[in-house]
Amino acid sequence: MIEVEGLTKSFGGLTAIDNVYLKFKKRELSSIIGPNGAGKTTLFNLITGHLSPDQGKIIFNGRDITNLPPHEISRVGIGRSFQRQNIFPRLSTFENIQIALFSAKHINGKLFSQAKNMLRDETDEILESVGLTDKKLMQAGYLAYGDQKRLEIGIALAIEPQLLLLDEPTAGMSPRETIEITKLIKKLVKKRGLTLIFIEHDMDIVFGISEKVKVMHQGRIIFEGTPKQVKANAEVQKIYLGKDKK
Ligand SMILES: Nc1ncnc2c1ncn2[C@@H]1O[C@H](COP(=O)(O)OP(=O)(O)O)[C@@H](O)[C@H]1O
Ligand SMILES: [Mg+2]
Repeated sequence: MIEVEGLTKSFGGLTAIDNVYLKFKKRELSSIIGPNGAGKTTLFNLITGHLSPDQGKIIFNGRDITNLPPHEISRVGIGRSFQRQNIFPRLSTFENIQIALFSAKHINGKLFSQAKNMLRDETDEILESVGLTDKKLMQAGYLAYGDQKRLEIGIALAIEPQLLLLDEPTAGMSPRETIEITKLIKKLVKKRGLTLIFIEHDMDIVFGISEKVKVMHQGRIIFEGTPKQVKANAEVQKIYLGKDKK
């Protein structure tokens, strides 16, 4: 479903992504792990068109999407959660999802007062899938941190993505919130038949959510396999138990 071929990106003298080849199958739950600075977020920025690669190609469902701008990438069905920046803190949780749906369906924002009654069922359905039904009337700015993350994931679902990219969605969460949100992500991805790529630097979290794991280190993919194979690999162990451990 998505393939990356020979992708390379440098920032000045630093090669953040170094000739990376990756393939992700439809409906697979994959993780990319690696210590901080490995290049994980840069890889997402390249896939979503927020950065242009120096070399290489990105193929999505057989189509070359390299260098397409972000709004076109989201139109082809690649959704990504951003850290808060697209939440409207003074609007309710419900309205945040509803507006994301308007935008995804190109409904003019100026008509919002008349549009208030539109897409309510779709909005409720997304709220339900991210577990925010009972908080739908709360102002989004007052949601607890873990719930804001759920809202961000809900906003990413508004474009009806086929592929969902989540960049460390559990960062800053308590262990309990972490367990809850990883369970929720797994459930909603399966229910909606999505392909998931989940970035994480904590190996333990990854093992609870992925079928396939790719290990990144210094801009390269150094190992791919099942969580079990990754756990047993000596090189991966070295990175995580050595001085690079975060
Ligand atoms: N916009 C940028 N400009 C310069 N350097 C960057 C930029 N984005 C990332 N980097 C550098 O690229 C490397 C990889 O970063 P990043 O992809 O954020 O890693 P990760 O998400 O795995 O922690 C780091 O050394 C980081 O400092
Ligand atoms: Mg990162």
